[in-house]
Amino acid sequence: MKPSRTITVINGPNLSQLGSRETEHYGTTTQDELLEMIEKKASMDGFTVDFIQSDVEGELVRSINSASGSSLGIVINPAAYSHYSIAIIDALTAFDGPVVEVHISRVFSRESFRNNLVTAKAADAFIAGAGIRGYLHAMDILYELAEKTEV
Ligand code: DQA
Repeated sequence: MKPSRTITVINGPNLSQLGSRETEHYGTTTQDELLEMIEKKASMDGFTVDFIQSDVEGELVRSINSASGSSLGIVINPAAYSHYSIAIIDALTAFDGPVVEVHISRVFSRESFRNNLVTAKAADAFIAGAGIRGYLHAMDILYELAEKTEV
């Protein structure tokens, strides 16, 4: 049995600008509103959430590393790092629980460089194009995956 029913939600670079940034792709919900939705759902489901947003690759890596042993699983939107960060792949691969990667926008219908999704190789499940709701669906998937891997 893992030590707690905490899950970790990680947002990568520029996601602090949700609500005003490229609203045609990301909608008008702000990151604070998103966090409120995540925390409300988690508390109804009996979980607590560690939420981290950073624009810095190394900080994201550190957050993933420190989730091991204290968090049941990770929901992550690595944002632009999704397309090229080997450091994040390595950290997610070393993490000792399930990982669900989320993209708010329909990454496959956008510029071709967004089709290259490297960090997703280290994820157990992947959601793209469901908008902000994708995070909430990702949480449900994470709970199921965490239950399967709990001993
Ligand atoms: C994103 C898609 C990425 O290509 C982009 O760099 C982002 C957000 C998404 O949520 O759709 O910052 O991860």
